[in-house]
Parts: sequence; structure tokens; C-alpha cells
Amino acid sequence: MPYVDGMITDLERQALGCFAKNIWEHGASKEAVIVDGGCYVGASTVALAEGLHESKVPEQKRRGRIWSYDLFRTTKAMADHYLKGSGLQAGDSFQPIFEKNVAAYRDYVRLEAGDIQKAQVPEAPVAILFIDILWSWDCTNYVGRRFYPLLEPGRSLLIHQDFVYPFYPWVILTMGQLSNILLFAYNVQYSSVVFDVAKRVREQDIDDPRNVEVSRGLNIYDQFIDRVEGWAQGALALGKALYLASLNRIEEARRLTEEVAVKFATEPLVTQYLEAIRGYCDRAVAEGKPVPLDQAVGI
Ligand SMILES: C[S@@+](CC[C@H](N)C(=O)[O-])C[C@H]1O[C@@H](n2cnc3c(N)ncnc32)[C@H](O)[C@@H]1O
Repeated sequence: MPYVDGMITDLERQALGCFAKNIWEHGASKEAVIVDGGCYVGASTVALAEGLHESKVPEQKRRGRIWSYDLFRTTKAMADHYLKGSGLQAGDSFQPIFEKNVAAYRDYVRLEAGDIQKAQVPEAPVAILFIDILWSWDCTNYVGRRFYPLLEPGRSLLIHQDFVYPFYPWVILTMGQLSNILLFAYNVQYSSVVFDVAKRVREQDIDDPRNVEVSRGLNIYDQFIDRVEGWAQGALALGKALYLASLNRIEEARRLTEEVAVKFATEPLVTQYLEAIRGYCDRAVAEGKPVPLDQAVGI
């Protein structure tokens, strides 16, 4: 298979392939499906499909088993960076690139193009819920209410690709709110974190993470910072700084950012975020209030 030029690392691809190959012998329901929430041009879908292809699931039962979701709408950041050279402009569909990249496994894929908040949700349980799509508080609440309840205790895995990425506080806060139900298992380099399912999530377990008291939110960050290692601690600490900045606690945000800058000065995986976070704080001061994070992010 040609290499798909996506946004996940080789280790994350290997992990997805390994789960899709082996989860069926580790308790996943026979009829369960795999969800690729945010497939972009198909790297995660192909990794999951390769694993499924190597699994003991019979070929005819692999068909339509991977539910891939994406808006397929080129953003400015994609046009300027990830899709540079493709000729695509902001607003154009990149679905044709996805179709080309997944062609060898297209039968395995049920494609849900468009906003996941308006798409079909599987009726079957979900064995692997790979989430790389949470660009806002609202989408996080939606996915929590509609998809998390499809996870089966002791049988399914939830993987948050953006966990260590500092710009999505909604991912960290929701997983802190659900920490007795969805248990932090481990961090796949570079960004994904895998969660085990201890209990079934009920729709009423999902509380908007914007309701979390700030002190609790900061505590959630500290607990997860303790669970990861090395540079990921610095990236999550910058996430905590950005969370503070988004609440207009700019001086605390700046202090924490500069502490991280000193502590991780030789770690490009951390320092790569400094300019954006300092810029967010500067803009909040210049404009008198911070830009809501879900208007400031999204690639
Ligand atoms: C970081 S990319 C996914 C990268 C991909 N998993 C890979 O392996 O390269 C996030 C994707 O989520 C999609 N997305 C963001 N919000 C969405 C929404 N509300 N509904 C559907 N797709 C969405 C974007 O179009 C984008 O392709």
C-alpha cells in the first residue's frame, strides 16, 4: 500500500492497525464496528483497514465495518500546509484524495461525509472509537452523548488522538469528568491516548465541560500531566496555560507558559507551540478579551 500522507505518526498507525487486527480476540463483540472520527485523507482509515484485513474477522464481515467520518472541507491551514501542492483551496472538498488513498480497502469503509453532528450513528456497539475530530465544545458534547454510550465495558477502546495537543481543553476536561468510567491506559507517541472502558457511559454522564469549575479543571490537567511522560507533560502544561488564557487569566497563563518554556527549552515538540500560545495571550490583552478557543483553532 502507498503511504498515506496524513496527520498521525507511524506509531499511531501501528497502534490502530494492531487494535483493529487483535481486538476481536480480546473480547470485542462480533458485530461491533470501528469508528474513525476524523479520517481526513485516510491515514487512520487505512491503518485500521490494514489491521482489519489481517484480523480473523471473515472477509465478508469486514465490509462496511469501519465508519469513517469527515467534513472533507479544506481549511486554510490545510491549503497552506498539509495539502499544499494539491491545488485545493480553502473550502474545496478533499474527499477525492481520501477515495484514492483508501481504494484498496473501500469495501471495508462506510463513509459518512459531512458534519459528524448530523451524520448517522452506528446501531451496533463500537469496538474501537478513534476520535480525531473534536474542534469545539459542542462537537465534544455531541460525540460524548451519541458515541461514548456505544462503547462496551471491558471490550472496547476509546482513543483520543488530540489528547496531548494543547489547543483542545474540551478533550482533557471531558476525560477528567469521566475518569471513573473511561480509564487512562497509555499514551501512544506522539499524541494519542488510549482509554479503557470500565463502565458503560450513559448519555446523562456527559456534562458540558464548560460547566467544570476552574479549580477542578486545573486539577484535571494536573492529574493528566502526571499520567504522561517527558515532552508530553510540557505539551499538556501548555494546554493548561491556554485553558487559563481562554478564561482571561492571562498573567497566570503567561507565567506557566514561561515556566514550561524554560523547563522544555530543548524539546521542539513542546517549543513548537510557544509562539501560538504567547500570541493568543497577546491578542487577548490587545482586544480586552480572549478569542473563544473553538473559534481560534481547527486544522
Ligand atoms: C486532524 S484531522 C484528522 C487526521 C486523520 N485522522 C489522519 O489520520 O490523518 C481532523 C479532521 O476532522 C475533520 N472534522 C473536524 N470537525 C468535523 C466535524 N464536525 N464533522 C466531521 N469532520 C470534522 C476535519 O475535516 C479533519 O479532516
